[in-house]
Amino acid sequence: MSGLILPENSLFWAGMEDAVAELKAPFSGSIFEDNNYCANIPDPVHKLYTGDNLPVLKYLLGEILEAVKVIYIDPPYNTGSIINYRDQFSVPYKKTAPSRRNNDLDGWVSKPSSDHSPWMSFMFPRLALARKLLRPDGVIFISIDDRELPRLRLLMDWIMGEKNHIGTIVWRKKVVRGRGNRHIIPQTEYVVCYARDISMLPPFREPLTDDMIDAYTKKDESGHYKEIPLAKSGTAHSPRPNLVYPITAPDGAIIHCPTHQWRWSEKTFQERQKEILFRKTKKGVWRVLTKQYLETDEGLRFRTPTSLYDKVTTTDGTRELRDISGTGNFDFPKPSRLIRDLVSWATTDSPSPDKPEIILDFFAGTAPTAQAVIDLNKSDHRKRICYLVQNRIESPEHTDKILELAKIRIQKSREGYRDESSTDHHDQPDFPEGFRLYHYLPPA
Ligand SMILES: C[S@@+](CC[C@H](N)C(=O)[O-])C[C@H]1O[C@@H](n2cnc3c(N)ncnc32)[C@H](O)[C@@H]1O
Repeated sequence: MSGLILPENSLFWAGMEDAVAELKAPFSGSIFEDNNYCANIPDPVHKLYTGDNLPVLKYLLGEILEAVKVIYIDPPYNTGSIINYRDQFSVPYKKTAPSRRNNDLDGWVSKPSSDHSPWMSFMFPRLALARKLLRPDGVIFISIDDRELPRLRLLMDWIMGEKNHIGTIVWRKKVVRGRGNRHIIPQTEYVVCYARDISMLPPFREPLTDDMIDAYTKKDESGHYKEIPLAKSGTAHSPRPNLVYPITAPDGAIIHCPTHQWRWSEKTFQERQKEILFRKTKKGVWRVLTKQYLETDEGLRFRTPTSLYDKVTTTDGTRELRDISGTGNFDFPKPSRLIRDLVSWATTDSPSPDKPEIILDFFAGTAPTAQAVIDLNKSDHRKRICYLVQNRIESPEHTDKILELAKIRIQKSREGYRDESSTDHHDQPDFPEGFRLYHYLPPA
């Protein structure tokens, strides 16, 4: 948290007291099951709740408190658009300005914008409830663009703790230049990631690409391997002393590390002699290499994801939804591949659970998260169930369509919908991937 502007590890915004009161208010209203949907499918089942996610999240505290492994959300970005759903948050600033604002600064700083505080008030109780639902080793991914990114980071640092910020992924959502801005054409947005408790979260892993696997061309009795230099690449300001030592070549020559340090300590170097290779270049210089095996004791080698994600774009999301439903009538649905990758990073390596891992999306929209989870279950034969929440109200014309699209997507995913451009051939699901539908009714 920035100590400069936020005293005592706190955050203030106009309307904050009301937002806190909203969080603390007990659940009211009721939830009932729609028995006509996806009937007669045994547990475990995915669940779709319709209605405002604030009361639904409160209700879910009674069912899945500290039980959710992954939350993915794609909340309103506060763009001012009201095409598909309300994405505009604004109140007259003066009415709700916090008393702390120092008018003496008026000549020095710009006038605050009036529409961020309502967005923060909207997000705060929902994010605070989300934290309660996460398992100790749980993780939350939040899509956002750069309009509310600073406020989201401040809210999340406050709610989750700054030390639990895992990182912020830059998603290259567009490759074409497009239009829409005179100064910088936006091609990226973000996925902000926080752990419930970073000390409990296992490392994220993603599978190697086919090209990477193809590089393991050599083979010995321990399996396929590739040769990589023992000298560490990149630069370091202060090499670790135990990683800098001379190595004796087969002909007795002394080899000094050609970079700042070796990758292995001298002890590891001695212990893993079988994996060490010496090669002499044409110029007679010794190089030290190690064998890197494709399979390790823990299975096929993985890699750690990076903060740049560019595997799919919004065009893929729109095309995917159009292929499934015959309509692209929704503003920029997220490509399910993006969500599938995030969920897979956080769940593929977790110990095989006896109970299915729970994945929650409480701004479900057209339900790409359902598609992501079902597809992932099919591809790696693990059991994950999703809980989705999607609002029903506002303009019936639009939101009804969103729910309709969500249901179509869920149905097609359950039936084994495949992206034709994908070379992935999933098997049939290992469990029925049934869905239950619930509706939230506000108090009369
Ligand atoms: C950015 S969209 C999510 C789109 C979704 N990721 C997709 O690809 O289809 C945000 C969604 O949250 C829904 N939403 C907004 N406020 C909500 C609330 N209070 N409770 C539940 N859903 C809400 C909107 O109707 C909209 O469908």
